Order: sequence, then C-alpha cells, then structure tokens
Amino acid sequence: MMKLWRWISSVRLAHVCVGAMAGVSAAAFAAWDGTPTGAVSSSVEASAVEQGVERGRALYDGQCAACHGPGLIGGMGPTLTGQSFWDRWSGHPAAELYDAILNTMPATAPGSLTEQESADLALYVLSFNDSVLPDAPGPAALAPPIIQKKAE
Ligand code: HEC
Repeated sequence: MMKLWRWISSVRLAHVCVGAMAGVSAAAFAAWDGTPTGAVSSSVEASAVEQGVERGRALYDGQCAACHGPGLIGGMGPTLTGQSFWDRWSGHPAAELYDAILNTMPATAPGSLTEQESADLALYVLSFNDSVLPDAPGPAALAPPIIQKKAE
C-alpha cells in the first residue's frame, strides 16, 4: 500500500515538474519573441531605406490613417493606392510626393511635419504601392527617382 502511494505521488510530482518546465520554456520563448532588439540585431539587418519605410508606416498610422484610411484606401482624404495613385503620381519625381506631404499634410496642420518625417512618409507610400524606391532615406535621395512600378 505504502509502495503504491509513493509510486502515485512520484508520478504526480513528475507531472507537475513537466508542467512547470513547459511553463518556463513558454515564458522564455515569449520574452525572447517580444524583445524588439532581437529582430534588429539579427544578421539580417533592415536596410536604411526599409527603416525609413517603417518609420513612415508608424507616422502614417498616427497622423494620416484617420483621413486616408487604413491600407491607404482613402476616406475623408483621397486614396493613396491603386489606380488613383498611379493616375496621379506615375512618372512624377518622388520629390513631388515628398513636397506635397511636407507642405500640405496633414490637412489640418500643414507644415507641421519635419523634412525627415515627410521623407519617411513618402517612402512608406511609395513602398506600399510597390514603386521603385530611392537607394537611401531622407529628402535629398527622393529627388531623382521617378515614381513607377517596380519591374516584376
Ligand atoms: C484631416 C484629414 C487629413 C489628414 C490627417 C491627412 N490628409 Fe492627406 N489629404 C487630405 C485631403 C482632403 C486631401 C485632398 C486635398 C488636397 O490635396 O489638399 C489630401 C491629399 C493628400 C495627398 C495627395 C496630394 C496631391 O497632390 O495629390 C497626399 C500624398 C497626402 N494627402 C498624404 C498625407 C499624409 C502622408 C498624411 C499624414 C501626415 C496626411 N495626408 C494626412 C486629408 C488629410
């Protein structure tokens, strides 16, 4: 009887132990997964342009999406994607898009964006539409590229 009890309790203990270990490894995994620097310091570093696109995405979500919609589909402001985007912007220098953002947006507070923010926003809009991108972030690099679909 005594032996059986000890066997049962040791099985139970083992069970608790496995459960605890699973809990620990899940927590460790979650912590690792949630650490933002983990992704950035990996061997595949985001390029400077990709980082600009990411900054632009955050700015867009905070300051533009209310009028231009999630996914740039438009709302109170015009759509900034699809056929309307290409009708309006195809063949124009990227600097023109940058200028429009810098000088006229957000419509409620034109001129409130810095040059860097406007350049990041232009990068985001271009990237979202699969346009050719400049090879560096920042206003100066936006002058030469002509807005056009990236070659497939
Ligand atoms: C309060 C609403 C509102 C907000 C916020 C807003 N926009 Fe606009 N946006 C508009 C309206 C309305 C137009 C169309 C009229 C115009 O071109 O001035 C427009 C036009 C544009 C255009 C096209 C300009 C052109 O010449 O065709 C771009 C690009 C643009 N917005 C980008 C942005 C970006 C980037 C932001 C965030 C910083 C932003 N907008 C925030 C309302 C807004």
